[in-house]
Amino acid sequence: MQDFLTRLPKAELHLHIEGSLEPELMFALAQRNGVALPYASVDEVRAAYEFDDLPSFLTLYYQGMAVLRTAEDFFDLAMDYFRRAHGEGVVHVELSFDPQAHLSRGIRLDVQVEGLTRAMRLAERELDISTALIMSFLRDRSAEEAMEVLEQAAPYWELIDAVGLDSAELGHPPSKFAEVFERAKWLGLPGVAHAGEEGPPSYIREAMEVLDVCRIDHGVRCLEDPALVAELVERRIPLTVCPLSNVRLKVVETLDAHPLPALLEAGLTLTLNSDDPAYFGGGMLDNFLACQRAFGWSRQTFVDLARNAIEAAFMSEERRDVLLTRLVAETN
Ligand code: HPA
Ligand code: ZN
Repeated sequence: MQDFLTRLPKAELHLHIEGSLEPELMFALAQRNGVALPYASVDEVRAAYEFDDLPSFLTLYYQGMAVLRTAEDFFDLAMDYFRRAHGEGVVHVELSFDPQAHLSRGIRLDVQVEGLTRAMRLAERELDISTALIMSFLRDRSAEEAMEVLEQAAPYWELIDAVGLDSAELGHPPSKFAEVFERAKWLGLPGVAHAGEEGPPSYIREAMEVLDVCRIDHGVRCLEDPALVAELVERRIPLTVCPLSNVRLKVVETLDAHPLPALLEAGLTLTLNSDDPAYFGGGMLDNFLACQRAFGWSRQTFVDLARNAIEAAFMSEERRDVLLTRLVAETN
């Protein structure tokens, strides 16, 4: 089964590229840039990754990314991830990045975008990984600031595939960003949003109805509202579920207690993703393997999940055809 899950062509739709920063690279970049770290060793970093909830994770996540200063750093960060993902049978990666978390540290948007997009082009050429870029807004900062960043990104609108919404969820409902997502839509940029990770089902509904998103990131709390589940099923809105993330951030107590089987049973369009692989104990393959161990799913279930991701991805129709054909060939 491990072999099968490795070969399965996997598309990753929910990845914070800053959350792919492994402690080894964190140390290398800290040294290169003369940034002091509050850790003495790589082991100490890993030992610090014990979280009570989303906010306690976010503190370390924002702290860790302080080593990213130059375009080269963003390039190295993304290439490091693409190489690992390639080894796990990932064929398409949609990277979210958090421009405000870098702008607030004095790192210009052009530096961020140049480094990330250069890595994306190289991954496409050298690793045959297709990529998409999602510019995410920090929901615990103001809507005005998000709008300013969207306007500031004008030179890069062509390079961006969608806008997203992340960071601390509770108290920051999607409706706060109605105008920002409206403007993005007017620019031709689709929207995705984290909702129903720590926040209530009403946030999922708002993301669908007010922001008109085409996917929900996480969304696992939808089961608390059967009418919402019916709507998600009816509209075939994909949920980008992140099993190991949900365990590490205590959205669920254990993977065995994860609502994934119930979500599947409800007929929802699900995909499996890694969220912040360096912080949550593994990448795409680890997430697939953990689900296999916890739920004992058949090969067919994993093929269905992989197909959902390819179908829900921001990619050309040619690329989608190639990957769907590869999915059939690899799993027959
Ligand atoms: N949830 C919300 N915001 C985030 C996450 C997450 O899991 N990871 C990085 N930013
Ligand atoms: Zn996330």
